[in-house]
Amino acid sequence: MYRTNTCGELRIDSVGATVTLAGWVQRVRKMGAMTFVDLRDRYGITQIVFNVEVDSRLCEAANHLGREWVIQVTGTVAERTAKNPNLPTGDIEIIASELNVLNSALTPPFTIEEDTDGGDDLRMRYRYLDLRRPNVRHNLELRHRMAIAVRDYLDREGFLEIETPMLVGSTPEGARDFVVPSRMNPGQFYALPQSPQTLKQLLMVSGMDRYFQIVKCFRDEDLRADRQPEFTQIDCEMSFVEQDDVINLFEGMAKHLFKTIRGIEIKEAFPRMTWADAMKYYGSDKPDTRFGMTFVELDGVLKGHGFSVFDSAAYIGGICAPGCATYTRKQLDQLTEFVKRPQIGAKGMVYARVEADGNVKSSVDKFYTQETLQEMAKAMDAKPGDLILILSGDDVMKTRRQLCELRLEMGRQLGLRDKDKFSCLWVVDFPMFEWSEEEGRLMAMHHPFTHPKDEDIPMLDTDPAAVRADAYDMVINGVEVGGGSIRIHDSELQAKMFEILGFTPERAQEQFGFLMNAFKFGAPPHGGLAYGLDRWVSLFAGLDSIRDCIAFPKNNSGRDVMLDAPAPLEQSQLDELQLKLDVKND
Ligand code: AMO
Repeated sequence: MYRTNTCGELRIDSVGATVTLAGWVQRVRKMGAMTFVDLRDRYGITQIVFNVEVDSRLCEAANHLGREWVIQVTGTVAERTAKNPNLPTGDIEIIASELNVLNSALTPPFTIEEDTDGGDDLRMRYRYLDLRRPNVRHNLELRHRMAIAVRDYLDREGFLEIETPMLVGSTPEGARDFVVPSRMNPGQFYALPQSPQTLKQLLMVSGMDRYFQIVKCFRDEDLRADRQPEFTQIDCEMSFVEQDDVINLFEGMAKHLFKTIRGIEIKEAFPRMTWADAMKYYGSDKPDTRFGMTFVELDGVLKGHGFSVFDSAAYIGGICAPGCATYTRKQLDQLTEFVKRPQIGAKGMVYARVEADGNVKSSVDKFYTQETLQEMAKAMDAKPGDLILILSGDDVMKTRRQLCELRLEMGRQLGLRDKDKFSCLWVVDFPMFEWSEEEGRLMAMHHPFTHPKDEDIPMLDTDPAAVRADAYDMVINGVEVGGGSIRIHDSELQAKMFEILGFTPERAQEQFGFLMNAFKFGAPPHGGLAYGLDRWVSLFAGLDSIRDCIAFPKNNSGRDVMLDAPAPLEQSQLDELQLKLDVKND
């Protein structure tokens, strides 16, 4: 038997017991006649004591142990004289009587403790060592507990976990696919699924009624803190449901997760905000509602006073930062620089301070009377001591997005984006389509299988851009943690949708015939949702990036630096696949 106990298990009630532990040497400290070894495993750290006066040979062996060596120790549990209240096992230590080195180790390239000296790249290269650090491991433990809580909830609700294939066909729409060449079908490619969307809909046609899967999805898109090329969805689909049924069931699951994982009981229903309001008041379809500072449109108040920037703008919007009238010129210049950064792209920022006496002083005073400025302050519900920040532009949506960034930055500066505070909502009534400049056509905002709102269906022919969808996203603290929709289950409506998206009937049939044909064999009304597991875990763990809750993530260039993937193939493999490369080295 390698061990009788783990390194996180023993407490004061075991004093006197003979035990055997196995684990990694975190630290060796020699203090006079004693040598102390901190022995670590997944469960914790236990202090082992070697006493030269009891067994000099054994103590000598302990002095030669290196960091991260794997050892087995037998000894007696004793009460510590100097207890360590920071360690669950801090009341006891093991007086060693036997030491067995199971494996030596090279000196690790960074310290394997809560705080490490290892940079990002180094830690990723040696991710298996990074995963020994308790804080990194905790994220994986949390992930495991969440997956269990999800399965528990969905099983109780009658969902079946059904696996769908990883080798599927490439489909247009959505992100770029990762493709896999087929040796047995030369010149042909599988694609890795961006999500099991169409397959789960086919499972509804099969009568499975309630499906779920904790499933890997693959998207070849630009990476950000909340995006990985392969990530995990909690993917679900239900038959004979309307939007409210899906929302209620998955809100229940969110509450179950909050309760079981974070111990937070949420009794109230999550608020629902239309997409139009989210854009109007927050400039984002995933508003961070932990704090207010909502947008106020100021076109009516500020236009027509001779300030050409505002007079020619399609949109003027302001936010009111409470208590920030004391911001210095330097702070305001920094905010202006912030909104002018290329990623945000505003041309400039106007500000106005509401002074203690109620007077409003702005950076564009020469164009506005005190009366107009007062009118503006009133429209914004600004109080003495507040700071009003205003952006304008000739593109309404773009300017709102810029103001959104400014609002988030102010929220950050004012400490209003507390990671331990959660604000959940549903964003509903998304537009069915959005215009793509790149493609010069309408694209589906969620995906082409989304059902339009019944009352908007007549507009599909007359004004498709105005059609709203039975689509919903769950947003927590400004993070889109999930999204879904009621689906089209009628082959004719589905065909019409492809037509609006610019598919010829032949191409629609070629790409999606399998689905439209299936709909002709008795498809039930259905809908569903997918949660992003990585995003949920990082939200609950308070992480800045989803990478930290993934055992072996990719870096920002989509590389696994540990496996050194992607990598070129052997010529023989290319030959077998009948592939010729034409790589442009730019
Ligand atoms: P959607 O594309 O909105 O919907 O994805 C659902 C959820 O998955 C998460 N997510 C991601 N997480 C990490 N990295 C990524 N690259 C990434 N992309 C998405 C988000 C998102 O809300 N088939 C539909 C769902 C449905 O309609 O049922 C779908 O995939 O949390």
